[in-house]
Amino acid sequence: MSIFDDMAKTWDDKPDRVERIRVVSARLREVLDFDAIEAGLEYGCGTGQLSFALADVLPHCLLVDTSLEMLKVAERGIAERKLQWDTERRNFATQSQDHPEAIADVVFSLQVLHHVDDLETTVGNMTKALRPGGQIALMDLPKGSSGFHHGSDHDPADNPHLDGLDRGELEQLLDGAGLSSITWHDDIELQRDGEDGSTTYKLFVVTARL
Ligand SMILES: C[S@@+](CC[C@H](N)C(=O)[O-])C[C@H]1O[C@@H](n2cnc3c(N)ncnc32)[C@H](O)[C@@H]1O
Repeated sequence: MSIFDDMAKTWDDKPDRVERIRVVSARLREVLDFDAIEAGLEYGCGTGQLSFALADVLPHCLLVDTSLEMLKVAERGIAERKLQWDTERRNFATQSQDHPEAIADVVFSLQVLHHVDDLETTVGNMTKALRPGGQIALMDLPKGSSGFHHGSDHDPADNPHLDGLDRGELEQLLDGAGLSSITWHDDIELQRDGEDGSTTYKLFVVTARL
């Protein structure tokens, strides 16, 4: 059972998460080219809200997560919206022969990479899932974001990048996976509501193409 299983039912109840989806989906519309997109793939989709916010430009989307409970909420969202989308329970941070290959025109993830231990395999799997010319967009905490998980139940031993990702390291991984046009966009600044008040945090936004 993943720690995210426990959070799934109430994940979307927090207004600051709703606002994050609004801001991030608007940014994705600016930095990605959604013309002629047939299929998307969201890694670490959680309840699926980011993809749902882009549903008008994603004829198909595969929502991938390790958390069964998150996927159950996402599946309800798909059914409610009458979308012809799929979900898949998969750990994309591991090497596997059956990882999806060349199925998506656009691949994206929000606030997921900092929970992943093997970033090289993860970026490799994301790239493998892209069709030629496909686009990738990653939004996550920059290195130095130690305050974000203050007081959380996440075990740093299982989440080596909990304090955020190093930009140079990530850029090397994107480049090493064969992606080009690597572009760092302006950070997104957001508010997080905690028990001890509201704090500001940043998300980096990086895009690239196969
Ligand atoms: C912080 S939540 C973010 C969820 C969603 N992207 C959002 O912004 O609301 C991280 C999600 O990534 C999933 N996740 C973490 N590591 C994963 C992995 N290696 N493979 C698949 N899913 C993973 C978790 O189960 C969780 O649903």
